Amino acid sequence: MIKKKTPNVDLNDYTLPDGTMLDEQVRKEIDEIRPIYQAALREVITKIEILDDDLQRKNYYVPIHYMESRIKSVASTIEKAERYGILDPISNIDKVKDQIKDIAGVRVVCKYIDNLYYFSEYLIKQDNVELVCIKDYCKTPKKSGYRSLHVVIKVPIYYLDRTLYVPVEIQFRTIAMDTWASLEHELKYKNKGQVSEEMHERLIDCANKLLEIDVQMEEIRKTIIKE
Ligand code: GTP
Ligand code: MG
Repeated sequence: MIKKKTPNVDLNDYTLPDGTMLDEQVRKEIDEIRPIYQAALREVITKIEILDDDLQRKNYYVPIHYMESRIKSVASTIEKAERYGILDPISNIDKVKDQIKDIAGVRVVCKYIDNLYYFSEYLIKQDNVELVCIKDYCKTPKKSGYRSLHVVIKVPIYYLDRTLYVPVEIQFRTIAMDTWASLEHELKYKNKGQVSEEMHERLIDCANKLLEIDVQMEEIRKTIIKE
C-alpha cells in the first residue's frame, strides 16, 4: 500500500499574487477548469497505484515509498505564466492552459534510482498516455544540486460530450533526492530563494553525498538479490 497524501486542493483559492481576489467572472472560469485537472490527477494516481500493485503481486519489491499530489494555486500559476512571457494571464487563460504543464502535479518518491526509470517507462508506454517531455535532472542536476526525473504526460479525460487531453507533471525522486529537495526548498524559502555562496556550496555537497548513498544502497540491494 502506497503512503499517499491526498490532493491538496483548496477549492476556495482565488487569490492573486498580490493578495487581492479574482473577480466573479474569472472565478467561474476557474471553477470550470479545476475539476478537469483534479480528474487528470485521479487518472494518473490510479495508473501509478495499479502499476505498484502489479509489481507487488508479481513478487517484485515495492518501488514506491510515498506519493503526493497537488493542483497549482492560482497565484503560483499566474506568477509562472508571467515568467513564461504570457501577458495578462487572467485574460489569456487558454494560453496558460496550453503552456503551463504543471498545473496538475504528482510527486512519486521511489526507493532506488533505477525505480525512477523503469517506473516512468511503464507509464509512458501505456496506450492512452502521451509523452509531452522528460527533464532528467538526475543525469544533469540543476545548478542548485537538485536531482529528480520530471515527466510530463497527457492523459485523456472522457466527458459526456468531449474528450480532453490534460497535462500532468510527475516528479520521480528517490527518498534521498526528496529529502534534499524538501529541506533545501524550506531553507531557501525562508531566505526568499537566496543563500550565500558558501551555503550554496554546502547544499551541493549534501546533494552529492546523498547521491553517493543512493548509488551504494542500490549496489547493496543488487548484491543481496544475487546472493
Ligand atoms: P517551476 O515554475 O518551478 O515549475 O519551473 P519550471 O517549469 O522551469 O520547471 P523545472 O523543470 O525547473 O521544475 C520545477 C519544479 O521542480 C519546482 O516546482 C520544484 O518542485 C522542483 N525544483 C526545481 N528546481 C529545484 C531546486 O533547485 N530545489 C528544489 N527544492 N526543487 C526544485
Ligand atoms: Mg513546477
